[in-house]
Amino acid sequence: MDVANLHDRTALVTGAGSGIGRASALAFARRGANLAICDVNETSLAATETEARRLGVSVVARRVDVASAAEMQAFAGAVHAEVEAVDVLMNNAGVGLGGGVLETSLEDWHWIVGINLFGVVHGIHHFVPAMVRRGRGGHVVNVASMAGYVAGSLLPAYTTTKFAVIGLSESLREELAPHRIGVTAVCPGIINTGIIEASRMRGAQATEAARAEMKRSFTRRNYTPERVAENVLRAIQRNRAVAPISPEAWTFYYLKRLFPGFVRFLGGQLTKRQTAAARRGSD
Ligand SMILES: NC(=O)c1ccc[n+]([C@@H]2O[C@H](COP(=O)([O-])OP(=O)(O)OC[C@H]3O[C@@H](n4cnc5c(N)ncnc54)[C@H](O)[C@@H]3O)[C@@H](O)[C@H]2O)c1
Repeated sequence: MDVANLHDRTALVTGAGSGIGRASALAFARRGANLAICDVNETSLAATETEARRLGVSVVARRVDVASAAEMQAFAGAVHAEVEAVDVLMNNAGVGLGGGVLETSLEDWHWIVGINLFGVVHGIHHFVPAMVRRGRGGHVVNVASMAGYVAGSLLPAYTTTKFAVIGLSESLREELAPHRIGVTAVCPGIINTGIIEASRMRGAQATEAARAEMKRSFTRRNYTPERVAENVLRAIQRNRAVAPISPEAWTFYYLKRLFPGFVRFLGGQLTKRQTAAARRGSD
């Protein structure tokens, strides 16, 4: 899909109140796209809406929990009252969960699978059929992660959801190709957003000191959501199947293919380092 000029197009972004969702929604708007945006956080969503309207585009903004099929269906009703179908569907809303499998409760699993995987399923279920019916093509962007192809014991539940999002995206890509609808799983690395504050932490990582240390490492890395948004646009333009974003995401993408054992070793070392840092922080 050509993203050079998005006038008369509609881009839908979930989780548009903050971070990657907010930056991507505004990047679509800067290219002229009208927006359909949602978030569970009404205040931050309203701020994105105001900034988008300043760019002169029209906006449908709703408070929606993407984990709720009913709320996503109602959102689809509101969007499809304005346009026959969206042109870009970006399933972005997501949350983090640190801690081992042994430390993760069933409620935690339902929470993260509900948002990170069912949120994407709901987006596809409620918006893609209209895109197909309209017959004008388009693009689906599912926000996975570098943790969608590199596994380790720090984030097993999060990793599970992101592996699933890549599998779903690759499957859907084949199915939608005849309809000229591209599908991309974008896989950012370490991005400086609000995700750490909103994450649940379990086990050794479940201290404010460990959270603060993790937040510092994301801030030090300082790869901005605006850079992610530029890469999302490029991935749509090139119709990439899987798009790593940031140098570390690319490095692990290739390392995993060439040296999977080495990547497992690095993952183990990283876990040891993080666990030691968490212990130091809580002493
Ligand atoms: N920050 C990173 O390092 C990083 C790396 C790889 C992938 N990602 C992915 O990028 C996506 C965006 O995360 P971010 O880093 O911008 O984080 P963020 O916390 O800044 O933004 C996430 C947004 O999603 C919203 N949200 C959370 N739960 C929701 C729900 N149930 N329904 C609707 N909205 C909800 C939040 O209110 C927030 O506005 C997520 O899918 C995340 O997993 C982030």
